[in-house]
Amino acid sequence: MQTCDNIEQLRSKIKAWRANNESVAFVPTMGNLHDGHISLVELARERAQHVVVSIYVNPLQFAPHEDFDSYPRTLQDDLDKLAAVDTDLVFTPDTSLIYPQGERENTFVEVPELSDILEGEFRPGFFRGVATVVLKLFNMVQPDIAVFGEKDFQQLLVIRRMVEELDLPIEIVGAPIIRETDGLAMSSRNNYLDEEERARSRLLSETLAAFCNQIKQGVSVEKAEQEAKKQLQSEGFSVDYVSLREASQLSQVGADELRNTPELVVLAAAKVGSTRLIDNMKFTLSD
Ligand code: PAJ
Repeated sequence: MQTCDNIEQLRSKIKAWRANNESVAFVPTMGNLHDGHISLVELARERAQHVVVSIYVNPLQFAPHEDFDSYPRTLQDDLDKLAAVDTDLVFTPDTSLIYPQGERENTFVEVPELSDILEGEFRPGFFRGVATVVLKLFNMVQPDIAVFGEKDFQQLLVIRRMVEELDLPIEIVGAPIIRETDGLAMSSRNNYLDEEERARSRLLSETLAAFCNQIKQGVSVEKAEQEAKKQLQSEGFSVDYVSLREASQLSQVGADELRNTPELVVLAAAKVGSTRLIDNMKFTLSD
């Protein structure tokens, strides 16, 4: 496994692969890797001859009050994990390479509408930061495919939309959510939870599973959303949203359209103590 932190080395490595007609899969991350990230690398490995992983904590996607400074940085551990799954190249740029003019002065990409709802409503500017850095990384790596986790379901759709609307020749592959044994979706931010909060956190996935069952049993969307919020609040969660959407565009679905929608997804964001968790579950009512 090789690592590099500059664009010349990155390009020359990738150019050599391309000269042999070998395909490249790319997995962008912010590091502090867990089994969720590793599952993306394994999927990338199956889909292309070479796998490039980037590790970069992108300041542009953090609001000033968010956890950019305290975000866990565990480079050596990450490199060990990536070497164990046969990663070809790890790209570890720093901010002077990604945003030489400063991140707020950089040309940006904004995917309209999809960026303004749900996560975008509670984290204004977040998807602009994500889309901008991902486009830059795509231009640096120029992969054939790129793998993103469904854990960040809205992010995956924002990237798909950007790739489609900017005509990027990259196939975007979505990968299933990897969970802890009690159902909590793996996340670098789970490290912030103390023991008691960690125990309570399992309620988020349990609530989403109960929500899906309720909708399947014919409970109205409004009632199921209210119940889910009440359940989470009763355990001390501070809920940003619990929302049922159509899974390809995240549009809202009327009661009479539920059965004809090929795939539904319920998405939630809630704080446990000061840690904000997100999760989602896909399901269907159509036969
Ligand atoms: P990060 O949070 O490090 O996540 C990197 C990738 O891992 C994302 O595609 C995310 O959806 C996926 N992932 C995280 N937890 C997962 C889990 N439990 N199961 C499956 N996949 C999981 O997402 C980002 O970084 C950044 O926004 C980034 C795209 C790198 C841009 O800065």
